Amino acid sequence: MKHYTSIQDIPDIYAWIDEAKKIKENPLKNKKLGKHKTLGLLFFNSSLRTRLSTQKAALNLGMHTIVMNVSEDAWGIEFEDGSIMNGTTAEHIKEAAAVVSQYCDIIAVRAFPTLKDKEKDEREQVLNAFIKHASVPIVNMESATSHPLQGLTDAITIAENSTKKRPKVVLTWAPHVKALPHAVANSFVEAMQKMDVDFVITNPEGYNLNPNITKDTPIIHNQKEAFKNADFVYAKNWSSYDSYGQILKKDADWMVTKANIGNAKFMHCLPVRRNVVVEDAVLDSENSLVIQQANNRTFAAQLVLKKILEDL
Ligand code: CP
Repeated sequence: MKHYTSIQDIPDIYAWIDEAKKIKENPLKNKKLGKHKTLGLLFFNSSLRTRLSTQKAALNLGMHTIVMNVSEDAWGIEFEDGSIMNGTTAEHIKEAAAVVSQYCDIIAVRAFPTLKDKEKDEREQVLNAFIKHASVPIVNMESATSHPLQGLTDAITIAENSTKKRPKVVLTWAPHVKALPHAVANSFVEAMQKMDVDFVITNPEGYNLNPNITKDTPIIHNQKEAFKNADFVYAKNWSSYDSYGQILKKDADWMVTKANIGNAKFMHCLPVRRNVVVEDAVLDSENSLVIQQANNRTFAAQLVLKKILEDL
């Protein structure tokens, strides 16, 4: 594999899930594969899980890691071609990506959307600039529109916890105090569309995700109806897609509670705001999978790095 930028880069999700489970059983089995190889992790935005789990995955494969908080520590990077750089940016992505490619065998990038300029966000300006100007494989650690390491993790976690051949999985919008990106929800939708699950999305009116991503997945505007007979409830907030980046609703009536989730397993990518997105009673219950999900981030990342290393 050359790059990992989207759930669509997974040719056979069940084969990948099986391989990830084997990695989880014996994480150090391929510890020589990455010997003398370096993973560079470039963060334009904050992270806890992605940063540590991707480093851990690289270490399990015997790689070295270099990490940089680009927005805080690097020169301001210019992404527009042909720009006259007499403003705040001091280095063009053409040089930056080429230079980092000399230090690293794989570059992983996290760059969130503006949530103001839909066209720019959907163009994936930062991720695609690295793909264009770097000479090494690129891994998406959450871009403007997708979070494929999280989506793969979620698929692994659902497979591990399924007691039915075709479980019912519900992705529910949940309230939040800030305008959040669509990336996690988008990649979760794409992962579920590749799996044999009874998958529905529930969100308030005005919060439908990009129809090019949801495609023919049912969208129900009544959360209670959507939760009926659910085996997995995946909660996530996202800002409006149609009224791009706007918060249209903050009401607590869409919060996931012990009363409305029933016996379904609860999932969230974390970080999560307690008693805003989901109440304590759910997160602290045996039905919460959030810690297992976060653990699986390592094995999803390790599988992706392994596949790239095998093709270097
Ligand atoms: N789920 C996730 O990507 O977590 P971080 O933002 O902490 O990396």
